[in-house]
Amino acid sequence: MRILITGGTGFIGSHTTVELQNAGFDVVIADNLSNSNAEVVDRIEKITGKRPDFIKADLSNARECRLVFDTFTDIDGIINFAASKAVGESMEKPVMYYKNNLGIFLNLVEEMKKRNIKYFVQSSSCTVYGEPDTLPIKETSPVKTATSPYGHTKRIVEEMLDFITATSDIKAIALRYFNPIGAHASALIGELPNGVPNNLLPFITQTAAGIRKELKVFGNDYPTPDGTCIRDYIHVVDLAKAHVVAIRRLIDKKNKKDLEFFNIGTGNGFSVLEIIKSFEKSTGVKLNWSFAPRRAGDIIQIWADTSFAEKELGWKAKEDLDSMTSSAWRWQQTL
Ligand code: UFG
Repeated sequence: MRILITGGTGFIGSHTTVELQNAGFDVVIADNLSNSNAEVVDRIEKITGKRPDFIKADLSNARECRLVFDTFTDIDGIINFAASKAVGESMEKPVMYYKNNLGIFLNLVEEMKKRNIKYFVQSSSCTVYGEPDTLPIKETSPVKTATSPYGHTKRIVEEMLDFITATSDIKAIALRYFNPIGAHASALIGELPNGVPNNLLPFITQTAAGIRKELKVFGNDYPTPDGTCIRDYIHVVDLAKAHVVAIRRLIDKKNKKDLEFFNIGTGNGFSVLEIIKSFEKSTGVKLNWSFAPRRAGDIIQIWADTSFAEKELGWKAKEDLDSMTSSAWRWQQTL
């Protein structure tokens, strides 16, 4: 089976390509390299012993998108990671975010319909839940008004998929990720943030490496046990494996609905201070940090109820927090 991975040289896309190839799938990567590097393809080959096909393409451009499918005519399914993903940037450039993230999605769906490609896995986010009313959060929990154009594009794509799958042969799964961190055990692939990182783990590893002076912990007066925000951090390799299971479920026609949603987290919430502790313990590196005011728009706490994914997908995250923080550090040291 041949799977098109859009955004396949990015953080989650590259790890998913590795796991798909390890599971026996053939992969074509399409990426515009706006936030990644073509050398990732060499590294995937080093890890798996198999070189995925690669095509540089801006999928938000209908002509370039068509060319991908004209070049690779044997695609059976798509896993869509291609998107702009910075929450803050999306507040400054909402139109760019809508054009890019929704344009990519619609161009892909048009090609799928034309070419009778039926299986689609969408990279979605726990951001669709907003600030949860009850925890852990289930897939049936209400979806809330988006707080950023980025989050809005995730929600819109889920809603569009609902109508598209209802009115065509396309079957889809949207995976709602919690907070992916860590890196492949080989330290050959990992997260490569552009400029100053927004996310916690890259900021931690860059501070430990001396690239940043100090980590600011945003807020110490939240209504949580230690006053800092809580997230469900998941190892990117566990997350990648969830995609293999999801695309296989569609191919094997095991899906129970035309569109299914799954929470992809560990089911455990950790505070920012617990992440710092894990990092220091697992790496032996002391981190320079201090408290700073709350960051606007931060959710207080969220973690997943993973029982539906466990039951339906037979998938469960395996890696613990120390393995996430130490693998992120091993990767950082190679940069
Ligand atoms: N944090 C700090 N200091 C930093 C960076 C982050 O204290 O320098 C804290 C944040 O305040 C938050 C936690 O670390 O409490 C995690 O922050 P991240 O930015 O790593 O992750 P978020 O949960 O804010 O964002 C993630 C994804 C987004 C997605 C969002 C949905 O990165 O793509 O979840 O809630 F939109």
